[in-house]
Amino acid sequence: MDAITVINLRKEFGDVIAVDNVSFSVREGSIFGYLGPNGAGKTTTLRMIYGALKPTAGEIYVMGYNALREQKKAKKLLGVMPESTGIYPRLTAEENLIYFGRLRGLSGYNLERRVEELLKRLNLEEKKHVLADRLSSGQRQKLAFARAIIHEPPVLILDEPTLGVDVMSAREIREIIREYANQGGTVVLSTHNMWEVQKLCSDVAIINKGRIVYSGSRAELERISGEKEFEEIFIKLVREEHAEAF
Ligand SMILES: Nc1ncnc2c1ncn2[C@@H]1O[C@H](COP(=O)(O)OP(=O)(O)OP(=O)(O)O)[C@@H](O)[C@H]1O
Ligand SMILES: [Mg+2]
Repeated sequence: MDAITVINLRKEFGDVIAVDNVSFSVREGSIFGYLGPNGAGKTTTLRMIYGALKPTAGEIYVMGYNALREQKKAKKLLGVMPESTGIYPRLTAEENLIYFGRLRGLSGYNLERRVEELLKRLNLEEKKHVLADRLSSGQRQKLAFARAIIHEPPVLILDEPTLGVDVMSAREIREIIREYANQGGTVVLSTHNMWEVQKLCSDVAIINKGRIVYSGSRAELERISGEKEFEEIFIKLVREEHAEAF
């Protein structure tokens, strides 16, 4: 089964067509890179998928549920790291995780253990009693990542999870993402880091000016393009007026 399917998804903001009839599928257990230049429509697409924004038109399915008609069921299956992190500035790092863990059905020892584990892995342990608005932006970013995965949902949606995160923690985040997919979880990941894409993603969709210019296997795209560096492929694709070259 596909973990996520979007069909002819569209979002207009007044005159701006942010997402223009976008269709793609995300295979269960894959790490799917959703890529594109600034303003391409990535965040807008992801927000529609996780129910924060109503599409102008189109369909969204999450693990077979119609996400627009059965929003509650679809939302339960998702762990989300939004572009704006979404953490509460007036709670400490630890309180943020406890709060979201409870919200997602964890309690008691399981919750405690999970919070400790994540704080440790992301090197946030000594900040656990610090208010979130006193954390550095990278620390907040890591906290938002921890929040998204705390309840081990079947599908993760991560909008630039390693943005501004230091080398060791970014590696830890990638490691967690990889483990997660190895255990059967599905990850949709937006990033501008093409090296990260090459390291992590089995599949990619590339969006430019609201339109998908490629969607499918990363290895296949590398093969047909004849380029080794994913960055070169990406640049070629978003520069092409007509993407038929691929
Ligand atoms: N709430 C909004 N109201 C009006 N226009 C919006 C809104 N949100 C996004 N847009 C517009 O939609 C387009 C796509 O924005 P979006 O945030 O989806 O881009 P993105 O691909 O995530 O870019 P980035 O890489 O910079 O995060 C942009 O032109 C943006 O100005
Ligand atoms: Mg964005």
